[in-house]
Amino acid sequence: MPRAAKGEIPLIGGLIFDLDGVVVDTSELHYQAWKRLAAELEIAFNRADNEKLKGLSRLESLDSILLLASSYKHRSKIAARFGKMELAEIKNSWYLESVRKLAPKDILPGVERFLIESRQHGIRTAIASSSKNAETVISSLEITHLFDRVIDGTRVADSKPNPQIFLIAAEEMNEKPSSCIVLEDALAGVRAARLAKMRCIGIAPDSTFLPADLVIPGFSNFGIEDLFGFDRAKPEI
Ligand code: BG6
Ligand code: MG
Repeated sequence: MPRAAKGEIPLIGGLIFDLDGVVVDTSELHYQAWKRLAAELEIAFNRADNEKLKGLSRLESLDSILLLASSYKHRSKIAARFGKMELAEIKNSWYLESVRKLAPKDILPGVERFLIESRQHGIRTAIASSSKNAETVISSLEITHLFDRVIDGTRVADSKPNPQIFLIAAEEMNEKPSSCIVLEDALAGVRAARLAKMRCIGIAPDSTFLPADLVIPGFSNFGIEDLFGFDRAKPEI
């Protein structure tokens, strides 16, 4: 990735951050809450199952977990006792208990510095998260002031890979999609960025893991100069 010469400012209008897995690692908190619910329903649910839920909405996640029930009879027994909204609400109340304990120390390494740096260069910043708890999470992390807009799961009917959430974020920042870069850790999110015709930086431990323009392990060694190459990069749509 070419670096900008000293003082050179990349022509990027907006950065659109996914939240879970990019700004903060809430995956473990989701896992503990879903595991507790699965145990109540006598469904075997492990970390590998949880990995597949990344980027899915709350109800899509619940549907995936219910499919893990041992049999049709087991699923019918659960359906006779509980409604899906009720189950999703129970899980969410447990998840929120742990979200309220999040603090600035839980922001992933380098993210806050990268946000501050970007904003100092006049780049707008937004959150676009499938989570309906996005406002609560960033408020617990005390970084609400570092975002011009927060678009969460309450704003869209369809979750990623539908590109709507990213298009709303760009529009509300008064930026064209082609001037925006999405930062995403989930495959559904990278696909949504492509469909929105935006460039995308994937956050993953392995560069082969996500079909993004660039994949980085995190923001510890990533700075504003590293965005420079994106001015000319042509996204493959
Ligand atoms: C996404 C997470 O950001 O938000 C998913 O990657 C989660 O794991 C989804 O299911 C919905 O979150 P919430 O907070 O609305 O239940
Ligand atoms: Mg994510």
